[in-house]
Amino acid sequence: MIDVSALPVHIGIIMDGNGRWAKQRNLPRTSGHKEGLTAAKAVVSAAAELGIKFVTLYTFSTENWKRTEEEVGYLMGLIRRHLRAEFDFYKKKGIKIKHIGDIDGLPDDVRAEIIKASEETAHFTGMTVVLAINYGGRNEIVRGVKKMIADGTSADDITEDKLCKSFDIPDLPDVDLMIRTGGELRLSNFLLWHAAYAELLFTDTLWPDYNKEEFLSDIEKFQHRTRRFGGVLNP
Ligand code: IPE
Ligand code: IPE
Ligand code: MG
Repeated sequence: MIDVSALPVHIGIIMDGNGRWAKQRNLPRTSGHKEGLTAAKAVVSAAAELGIKFVTLYTFSTENWKRTEEEVGYLMGLIRRHLRAEFDFYKKKGIKIKHIGDIDGLPDDVRAEIIKASEETAHFTGMTVVLAINYGGRNEIVRGVKKMIADGTSADDITEDKLCKSFDIPDLPDVDLMIRTGGELRLSNFLLWHAAYAELLFTDTLWPDYNKEEFLSDIEKFQHRTRRFGGVLNP
């Protein structure tokens, strides 16, 4: 049973395994991505229903440009079309859409669609879905530092709090629960700063097969973890 009074505030999800899911079925990798979108919607719906405040979805990393032009093009198109077509889905649930990542490095039409979706959902009062697109944890930290320098911050004034405020979403809370599907045991440059004390949960399930039931069970697992943040529980 999930204790709704002790929910993780921010869940980060590394949606991995789309390509392998497709390969198992002799389908092109792109069909894995399409099916992955269905899984993402199911998880977002479940999170919204439960009352989770922030879900960040690792959608496209700064390293994913290494893939074929066909795959990258497909992913960009999928993101753009999804944001345009699913506005009602987000509206019905009052979900705010935000973006993290290097937005300047995205194709114009994708960037425009992200900005439009963020603006049109900004006044909603429900959960926030953060889309990490052209996102890299290191890239975010470097851009944050550049912003601080550009703002004239002196070395003495640099604090963790101030650096956080120069990130893409200044008030994005730390990740409480980080889920990675697809069986790999790594962070792949995702939310390096925010995941400093995240509880990590890895599952072999390939992302298109991940569903509401497994998501709820993962939240339950999180609730059985003992978080110490460097302290001692019963001194
Ligand atoms: C994750 O699935 C989705 C993206 C990185 C966009 P993959 O495409 O990495 O799938 P696998 O890991 O090759 O199975
Ligand atoms: C991480 O998956 C990126 C996303 C899920 C968007 P990758 O498939 O790119 O990660 P690696 O290459 O296995 O580390
Ligand atoms: Mg992968």
